[in-house]
Amino acid sequence: MLNALLIGAGGIAWRHAESLTKLGVSITYVYDIQTERAKQLAEAYHGQATENLEAAIAEVQLVYILTPPSKRVKYVEMAVKARKAVFIEKPMAATLEDAEEIVRLCENHRIPCMVGFTQRFRPGYQIMQKIIRAGEIGEITQAVSLRIGPGPGFKGSLADSWRTDKNLVCGMAIESLSHDIDFLQSLAGNITEVCGAVKGTIEELPAFDNNADALLKFESGAIGTITASWSSAAAYNIKGVIGEKGSVFLQGDDIWDSTRLIVATKEKAYEEELKDIFNEGTGYLEESRHFIECVRMGRMPVCGVRTGKKVLEISYQILGNKTEGQTAK
Ligand SMILES: NC(=O)c1ccc[n+]([C@@H]2O[C@H](COP(=O)([O-])OP(=O)(O)OC[C@H]3O[C@@H](n4cnc5c(N)ncnc54)[C@H](O)[C@@H]3O)[C@@H](O)[C@H]2O)c1
Repeated sequence: MLNALLIGAGGIAWRHAESLTKLGVSITYVYDIQTERAKQLAEAYHGQATENLEAAIAEVQLVYILTPPSKRVKYVEMAVKARKAVFIEKPMAATLEDAEEIVRLCENHRIPCMVGFTQRFRPGYQIMQKIIRAGEIGEITQAVSLRIGPGPGFKGSLADSWRTDKNLVCGMAIESLSHDIDFLQSLAGNITEVCGAVKGTIEELPAFDNNADALLKFESGAIGTITASWSSAAAYNIKGVIGEKGSVFLQGDDIWDSTRLIVATKEKAYEEELKDIFNEGTGYLEESRHFIECVRMGRMPVCGVRTGKKVLEISYQILGNKTEGQTAK
């Protein structure tokens, strides 16, 4: 049986603990600077809260780093020096310097490190990827992601989180758009040109951009856009690609859920109902399944540290010269 150490015991750690347990991995240790949080999570999954990270790392095979994005480098260093496989939440880091250091550490020690780009492991994405890879829509000409909803800035809660801490906060362009950037790049190839604009609507938290737009150009010559908002009363999302032979889109009446697949080519057009509900957690389960399989087989995960760094670079290009006073370093 594989054993895991979770570093960071906040919201996402509970999702990973649930998925790992389903996959037969033991949550052996949990560490958090808020020891009560570590205890609660560890107790729920029959593990132990620890304050001795070195000893805990020595005993496990998997280290999940689930802290705020700016608090990861030293944990990556400890894990890779002990030659343990590392799963790190998205966005990989809050600064490009941290991202570079994480890449250096993982590559120097030749340790598989996966960045948690959950969206790739959801059922809707898998269907879309299959259609694109089968050549059904031909060369991609345009790639689109729009998702809006009442998150932080409309009615979402930011209570008791690094997201409200002025020293730790990173806004939507870095935290949440990392999902959209990875989603589109993994389908349409590398993004080579970017321009963007962001807007924050939470007066007391100016560093938190909760609205973002980006115009993209891909290496292939395809173009694309990302629009995302957490301050919209209406909730909706649509993402997909337009190719020279057809289009494929996922759509849902929520910021994250995909409940419809839309496919149209010269030969056929159809819509299918989907039950890709983000909170059901299939993405978390499948990403950990992939990570564990890579660790067992000695393979590198599909979204590793180079992918994570490239995604962060694009976030910074979207922020442009607005980063000063906008994003905590
Ligand atoms: N993949 C997804 O769908 C998804 C969803 C939610 C969050 N996330 C990502 O997961 C990460 C964590 O988000 P969250 O929602 O769990 O945040 P959170 O605020 O709920 O939890 C963060 C935890 O980290 C702990 N922490 C802070 N500094 C620490 C340090 N130096 N060492 C150890 N622990 C520390 C905090 O005490 C807290 O318990 C973020 O990068 C976020 O973007 C990903």
